[in-house]
Amino acid sequence: MAETMKGLKRTHRCGELSAANIGETVTVMGWVQKQRNKGGIIFVDLRDRAGILQIIFEEEECGAENFAKAEKLRSEFVAAVTGRVEKRAAAANENLATGEIEVRALQVRILSEADTPPFPIEADSRTKEELRLKYRYLDLRRPDLQRNLILRSKIADTIRTFLSEEGFLEIETPILNKSTPEGARDYLVPSRVHPGTFYALPQSPQIFKQLLMCSGYDRYFQVAKCFRDEDLRADRQPEFTQIDLEMSFVDVDDVIDATERMVARVCREAIGLEVALPLKRMTWNEAMNRFGSDKPDTRFGMELTDVSDIVRGCGFGVFTGALEAGGSVRGINVKGQAEMPRKKIDALVEFAKGYGAKGLAYLSVLPDGSYKSSFAKFMTEEELKALVEALGGQPGDLLLFAADKLKLVWSVLGALRIEIARQLELIDDNQFNFLWVTEFPQFEWSEEEERYVAMHHPFTMPMEEDLELLETEPGRVRAKAYDIVLNGVELGGGSVRIFQSDVQERMFEALGFTKEKAHEQFGFLLDAFKYGVPPHAGLAIGFDRFVMLLVKADNIREVIAFPKVKDASCLMSDAPNLVDEKQLEELHLRVTE
Ligand code: AMO
Ligand code: AMP
Repeated sequence: MAETMKGLKRTHRCGELSAANIGETVTVMGWVQKQRNKGGIIFVDLRDRAGILQIIFEEEECGAENFAKAEKLRSEFVAAVTGRVEKRAAAANENLATGEIEVRALQVRILSEADTPPFPIEADSRTKEELRLKYRYLDLRRPDLQRNLILRSKIADTIRTFLSEEGFLEIETPILNKSTPEGARDYLVPSRVHPGTFYALPQSPQIFKQLLMCSGYDRYFQVAKCFRDEDLRADRQPEFTQIDLEMSFVDVDDVIDATERMVARVCREAIGLEVALPLKRMTWNEAMNRFGSDKPDTRFGMELTDVSDIVRGCGFGVFTGALEAGGSVRGINVKGQAEMPRKKIDALVEFAKGYGAKGLAYLSVLPDGSYKSSFAKFMTEEELKALVEALGGQPGDLLLFAADKLKLVWSVLGALRIEIARQLELIDDNQFNFLWVTEFPQFEWSEEEERYVAMHHPFTMPMEEDLELLETEPGRVRAKAYDIVLNGVELGGGSVRIFQSDVQERMFEALGFTKEKAHEQFGFLLDAFKYGVPPHAGLAIGFDRFVMLLVKADNIREVIAFPKVKDASCLMSDAPNLVDEKQLEELHLRVTE
């Protein structure tokens, strides 16, 4: 039968002991990593969240009863050991923080026995992720995940300390909310009391934090759980955490300044990284034109070049056709890859097609200066020369071109640039390139809805100088919106908010909301603005993404204790699940499929 804690107190974590404790009698508790029985002597590696400690059992030291218990210990048994810290008799184990010492056991209690786990509890395991997620509670024992979650907790501490020092108040906002149409799909919760009605889980605390500014709280923050029913990717979960903040009486620079000092402090305290401030800034336009992305990875070059003017009158129909249709022709220079095998180029073409490209035109500048190309035969020598020159092409380079609508050209070349950099290993993963992208377009044309939709959200303030375009040329209006980008990932984003009701009404109109619909959806916010509203602005950092990038994980699941998989289910608990007929009845719901 398992023993209990009665009369026993832990004195140290296993991994916290060091040579400084030699001579002390200690009590440690943890999981058995390994037990080796060498006859008269038993070695046990005991593990807890701080690390692994070697324990030695010898019968003449611990007595027959304890020695017999030590013989029974198996992997993942939970045990408590009291013993003396000694210098390791054998050579020190440099792989262990506790490698210089061992504990000579005097007493042991078996607190819990364990079945053989379905996979080994160790760092860098090769276990399939599905199995890890099914037994997440075991997976979470592994040192990599423990390191990630411990760091995550530490980062949250740093953020709370920083924001509190800066005068921010941590205020909770509701989880059961009113559904509003803008943004991603909502998760809905049926109301029992009001048949046929639903709450929505928050996609972000956006409206509430703006109301808190109306209420005079000045500086708000929250470590906020957010819910979005969207397709999952490596950096997207259906529920995730934001470091959400809002400030009154401020403009763009104030939010940027507070945020980047917070981010720099986290980097220093979490991973010892010094981030030079102020961070670089780039307008959205520049980011798109140079990198084909509003979240550019600036750790490598291969920037886009616009060659539309050079190929305007050329004989290659793919290029001229795209231009005549109002599109653009742009290219990237893949340095030193002129001899890339045809098969690999074809694979890149397929990759580009995955992003909607109709094709990808290539031109290799061979070492002898001649060209190998899918379209050179349609062009004059001068045109080719100008094209190569525009991209800074040297003998040995491979030039790739996309011709299409500008938006598509950007996304194809933007994605291609990253794919090629990955394939050629051009990315230094010790580099942390932060960047602010500013002056986002206010609107984005939705082909699907045939109307302008807010690129950020409908409460975002247009740039003062563009206000007059709101009715006439909405597509040209720039917003006081900003994103913070780290190594090609959108880390966070925010904006200055509209606080004048006349501007807000014009905004809703531009978005195709009737007055009635705007009031039905956001009436409480619009009403609040009638009673004295301070100018305000804010931002939210994707906390999971931030931790993921700091620990160099390639998926946010690695920094979330209990994540969901691609189809938004939980492999451990099997959520979502069917519920009782009775529950449905109470909620006035009937399932039709
Ligand atoms: P936004 O929608 O840009 O802004 O979200 C802010 C940040 O949250 C993170 N994020 C996600 N992380 C994981 N999984 C997801 N599904 C997910 N979706 C978003 C990103 C993103 O940059 N209320 C505004 C902020 C503001 O204007 O103050 C907002 O939510 O890192
Ligand atoms: P095609 O005329 O379709 O055989 O295409 C000739 C070359 O142009 C091939 O190498 C195609 O991959 C390439 N190509 C086709 N469409 C495009 C496009 N929209 N942009 C760039 N290259 C393209």
